[in-house]
Amino acid sequence: MLYPQADQQRHALALARAIERVCASGSYILGAEVEAFEGEFAAFLGINQVTGVASGTDAIELILRALGIGAGSKVAVPSFAPSAVAAGVARSGAEPEFADIEPDTFTLCPEALAALLCSPRGRGVKAAVVVHLYGHPADWESLQRVADEHSIELIEDCAQAHGAMWHGRPVGTLGRAAAFSFYPTKNLAALGDAGAVATNDAELAERVREIRQYGWKERYVSEHAGVNSRLDELQAAVLRVKLGALNESVLKRRRLAAEYDARLVGHRVVAAPTLRGGCEHAYHQYVVRSERRDALMQHMQRAGIPVAALYPLPLHRQPAFGGGKDMLRESDRAAAAVLSLPLHPYLSEEALAAVFEALNLFEHEGL
Ligand SMILES: Cc1ncc(COP(=O)(O)O)c(C=O)c1O
Repeated sequence: MLYPQADQQRHALALARAIERVCASGSYILGAEVEAFEGEFAAFLGINQVTGVASGTDAIELILRALGIGAGSKVAVPSFAPSAVAAGVARSGAEPEFADIEPDTFTLCPEALAALLCSPRGRGVKAAVVVHLYGHPADWESLQRVADEHSIELIEDCAQAHGAMWHGRPVGTLGRAAAFSFYPTKNLAALGDAGAVATNDAELAERVREIRQYGWKERYVSEHAGVNSRLDELQAAVLRVKLGALNESVLKRRRLAAEYDARLVGHRVVAAPTLRGGCEHAYHQYVVRSERRDALMQHMQRAGIPVAALYPLPLHRQPAFGGGKDMLRESDRAAAAVLSLPLHPYLSEEALAAVFEALNLFEHEGL
């Protein structure tokens, strides 16, 4: 069974009770469930403030708006990332400016960020969104050093990294603020769109709370031009059920990843992902690379294995965000080489065996 459905099935009884509780409550948006989830997720992360919002894209936008970053400013973004990241930046009014990634971890390259900030393109960059892509923590220490040198804000994008750790610290607690998505395929998954902002900065959290609801400081009084990006009670109640199982499900992801790693040693067509020292990966995706990615992807799909190339087009090549003017070599290379293999906490031994059978056939028959 595929991930989101298997997750609902595992939690079916608790989800039914949670949904019933919300239906009976008479409160459907920004109520007791949202408040409880915000507190519980803050405790999980070990951070002071969590604010529920409508999506991960909104979380990026609201953080930037709350920091006063918008029209006339630029925000650095790794080019190899989902387009949601650039969309969130653009919604704030700021212009995304792309930087290249590290070739081995696919996360924002500190040297590339520094080069961008020193170049004419870097003029006006006020912040960088650091994406812990696939659940792998970025090189936070080096990125922080670059950010400090150039006096820019670092914002974490943890949409794929619930449960990941950087030198013993949960991601989401490293920067000025962090954006989370709870889209139904994520490690912590709602039954619809949902997101959150995490921060230790109480004033920043307060501004995010105001902006998420029409800019209201008090009811019916808009202090800023806010938006409607509220988290609803149903999603919050669902997330409270799933949060209790997050650590265990991330451990299962790690165990499966270790099995993949072990069985891919010496594979001639596929290279296993690397892991930065001091980091614990959340394995939202288990991503291999292959010079023969397209042929391999077709072969796996013919064998009935659900694989995906995430992401096939770097952001600097997307029509909406630059249309391919710049060369960002590692982002281009990654887009041509990556393939996500099936990995989620409910993956069966048989399903895993089928993946290896298909991979080995490709290797040995030189398909
Ligand atoms: C890295 C990353 N950032 C941001 C987002 C946006 O989240 P959402 O789909 O909840 O808007 C996603 C999810 O799609 C994502 O994977």
